Amino acid sequence: MTLWRGGRLATLAGDRGWGLIDDGALLVDGGLLRWVGPSAEAPAADEVVELQGALVTPGFVDCHTHLVYGGNRANEFEQRLLGASYADIAQAGGGIRATVAATRAASEAELLAGAAQRARALMREGVTTLEVKSGYGLDADTEARMLRVARQLGALGVDVRTTYLAAHALPPEAASADDYIDAACRWLPALQAAGLVDAVDAFCEHIAFSPAQVARVFDAARSLGLPVKLHAEQLSDQGGAALAAGYRALSCDHLEFLSPAGIQAMAASGTVAVLLPGAFYALRETQLPPIQALRDAGVPIAIATDHNPGSSPTLSPLLMLNMACVLFRLTPEEALRGLTVSGARALGLADRGRLVAGQRADFCIWDGGHPRELAACFGHNPLIARVFQGVQGES
Ligand code: NIG
Ligand code: FE
Repeated sequence: MTLWRGGRLATLAGDRGWGLIDDGALLVDGGLLRWVGPSAEAPAADEVVELQGALVTPGFVDCHTHLVYGGNRANEFEQRLLGASYADIAQAGGGIRATVAATRAASEAELLAGAAQRARALMREGVTTLEVKSGYGLDADTEARMLRVARQLGALGVDVRTTYLAAHALPPEAASADDYIDAACRWLPALQAAGLVDAVDAFCEHIAFSPAQVARVFDAARSLGLPVKLHAEQLSDQGGAALAAGYRALSCDHLEFLSPAGIQAMAASGTVAVLLPGAFYALRETQLPPIQALRDAGVPIAIATDHNPGSSPTLSPLLMLNMACVLFRLTPEEALRGLTVSGARALGLADRGRLVAGQRADFCIWDGGHPRELAACFGHNPLIARVFQGVQGES
């Protein structure tokens, strides 16, 4: 048992507030938090670590990434600066399809090397749980390869959740979108049987798949008992969020064009709204997600990096905290909850995201006095140490 004492804890206990404990302590045993409270009341332990007044938060949960891929799309960044839209580039065969070509051409070892480097960058900013989607293979072999690579990232000392996103784009060889959706549904059982899938996602958009096609993917997921998520209402209102809520989706993500009906459906099903300020920023979007209406309806709000080579090539969860506040007007507390407790909920995980007894001992030690400082600064990383399942990683 190890006692970490003398830190300023932002526990996020309860539904609101920072849950600050000014001179606080954490007792860690077997990878779990056994006790959390004021240092003065802490139980005895075999080992004691002095936090020397440092700030402690729950480890970050990056609940939406596309971390495994080949190549990069900086050329599209230039094209967009010259006036092409994300949708224009996709319709001309670039975008996701460009990354599909590069990913199919990459070996498993190459994919792993690239993804591991990116995962380490996220971990250096405090990520302890990481979701990784497939969706740049769009054939049975490459989707499986991506998911195997994602699973292997767990060896770096981060908890990895994998999401099957074969319904991300139409591959060039597909005869029709309906035929492709059939195939994507057929590949799923074997991948699940191999232990490679924790959830199923799709891209519901005019440049991707229709609600009816997404429903077939969700039916396949449901028949296997897998939870679903959805890239919904990013570029237009397709009614995707309401559809996903009907399947009790864990989350709907992006949501710039979410309708009032979509919000009500998400509230009724307990679906988390995952906001992705990196994609909003990089695509120079102007339509904001309906933040106040989400708050009013009591929909939990998470934030994530959405790391991918096209719309959100960021590896900085700290920058997402800042952007969530500056671009989306979240409060610093909402942003931090979005990257911890609500991010965990977007993955169906109730055992992390707060510093309370019984939760996993995944936490971050920061050079700072108050948690709002994490959201206020940008382009600076104040992480002192990252503790994963009770074990200190970098410092
Ligand atoms: O979350 N919107 C669709 N999917 C990704 C982008 C994928 C890509 O452009 O490669 C996203 O933004
Ligand atoms: Fe995404």
